[in-house]
Amino acid sequence: MFDRRTFLRTAAAVSLSVSAFALAASGAAAADPIVIRFSHVVAPDTPKGKGADKFKELAEKYTNGGVKVEVYPNSQLYKDKEELEALQLGAVQMLAPSLAKFGPLGIKEFEVFDLPYIFSGYDSLHKVTYGPVGKSLLDKLGAKGIQGLAFWDNGFKIMSANSPLKTPDDFLGLKMRIQSSKVLEAEMNALGAVPQVMAFSEVYQALQTGVVDGTENPPSNMYTQKMHEVQKHATLSNHGYLGYAVIVNKKFWDELPADVRGNLEKAMTEATEYANGIAKEENEKALAAMKAAGTTEFHELTADELASWREALLPVHDEMAERIGADLIKQVQQEAGVSQ
Ligand code: LMR
Repeated sequence: MFDRRTFLRTAAAVSLSVSAFALAASGAAAADPIVIRFSHVVAPDTPKGKGADKFKELAEKYTNGGVKVEVYPNSQLYKDKEELEALQLGAVQMLAPSLAKFGPLGIKEFEVFDLPYIFSGYDSLHKVTYGPVGKSLLDKLGAKGIQGLAFWDNGFKIMSANSPLKTPDDFLGLKMRIQSSKVLEAEMNALGAVPQVMAFSEVYQALQTGVVDGTENPPSNMYTQKMHEVQKHATLSNHGYLGYAVIVNKKFWDELPADVRGNLEKAMTEATEYANGIAKEENEKALAAMKAAGTTEFHELTADELASWREALLPVHDEMAERIGADLIKQVQQEAGVSQ
């Protein structure tokens, strides 16, 4: 819930952005741009951070400065759960939360993306995010006052801890930080670990102080949050995917002048191409940088070890069928082209 300070910050932001919008829309002050506050929790130097900055550049260019995009990275304004509440209240206009964070909004279907081994790589993922299932998932957000605009890639997750993680037995009793997804909770339980939901901005300190033992994230997040400095071991397991839905406050979006909305859609399409074009390489560069730093030992799974991970984790698909929808899981499995 919001504390008093957050509430005041939110109320001020709402009144600022509403008045800027009203002035610009009425044409009373052509010099006053429409302001889009775009909040996110990761570093600027990540696939999402760079995508947000690209959207800013293109949106301001295509509207000839009629729209100003203010990007707030690194949980500067709001943490994970707060930012979704702030979007619904209109205190920020745009976010790109990870797909693992929509459950608390009541949209459990997005957790299908968290299922272990559901995608074989980016091509298989794109069949879903650029296909009819992706569109129908974004359409579900409308009922929550949110317009879904696009899916942005990050990458495939690696597991880290201060002890080697080669087989499921190595997870026994480890406290593992997860995002707020029931699928990820089931995943850690299946490995014998103790899942702990925690905001992204708190993970580094929790790892450093031993509040949790380990975590999972794509290399780009692990590196830019310096998690490698406080994790002695990591396994290149690629056991699951982490990516984003770019979302906007629906009322704000619907009330934009049609030409402005059209230009913003064009900016979003191009920013999406850009973000999804760099994600794989950004993760490869982050992994190389962590290997060079030498603070973490990286482990590749052998065929037998991989088989033991799959055996432990694949039952999560059935376990979560009731929550996510057996049909949706089947559809995604078929579109992604991965037989389990
Ligand atoms: C996490 O909380 O681990 C990620 O969702 C952070 C992000 O937005 O990439």
